[in-house]
Amino acid sequence: MASKMTPLLFRTAVRSVARAPRPQIRAFTAASARRSDTLSVHRNTPDNNPDIPFKFTPQNEAIIAEIIKRYPPQYKKAAVMPVLDLGQRQHGFTSISVMNEVARILEMPPSRVYEVASFYTMYNRTPVGKFHVQACTTTPCQLGGCGSDAIVKTIKEELGIKQGETTQDGLFTFIEVECLGACVNAPMVQINDDFYEDLTPETTRTLIRALKEAGTSSAAAAKVPAPGPLSGRQTCENSQGQTNLHDEPWGIETTRADL
Ligand code: FES
Repeated sequence: MASKMTPLLFRTAVRSVARAPRPQIRAFTAASARRSDTLSVHRNTPDNNPDIPFKFTPQNEAIIAEIIKRYPPQYKKAAVMPVLDLGQRQHGFTSISVMNEVARILEMPPSRVYEVASFYTMYNRTPVGKFHVQACTTTPCQLGGCGSDAIVKTIKEELGIKQGETTQDGLFTFIEVECLGACVNAPMVQINDDFYEDLTPETTRTLIRALKEAGTSSAAAAKVPAPGPLSGRQTCENSQGQTNLHDEPWGIETTRADL
């Protein structure tokens, strides 16, 4: 009898455990979790808090006036992105004070400016080094040439930092980014406003070392390779030379001999 009852008792026990009230753990949002190393919220720090005053320089104020003129007066806020960019260039990063000043100038709620600045990854909301090294690790750069893994490894070795960190001397910040639109010359990195393409571990090392020197002595700045492909290509032409379209292009006189 006892052996016949055993499965029944077991099932009953399992059901009652399943029915037992469980704590309701629900996320505040139904959107997928944001996997990023950048917080989308602001935390006050000694170098980034609203008590730090920020004003645009007179030159930048003149540029802002020009930018605002491009839009109808009731749509001043359309200038938010270029004005934020100007603030970042002047201050070094898009601090809370920069965002507040942009909101004041464009007469928009500060929260609207925060939304823009925290959505686009090009706005650095924390301080970055003098050289902001952004290595593309999207598929074409992973597969092109020596592959972005080799480039990232070289950068980490040369700088002694990991992704998302800044060197002690404040010269370099290194991050990995998604496609920067130069896939045809993969692998590549963006350093400040410049693209360096067709990279190999050797050219990457040379570039980082030249920037290190340039960061400490202005005389060494000339040694920094010119932006663009570091393979000798001018742009994205075939590195084997021209392989087709050798003939004179046909004009109408060829296709219409009767004319
Ligand atoms: S994948 Fe690297 S630039 Fe497009």
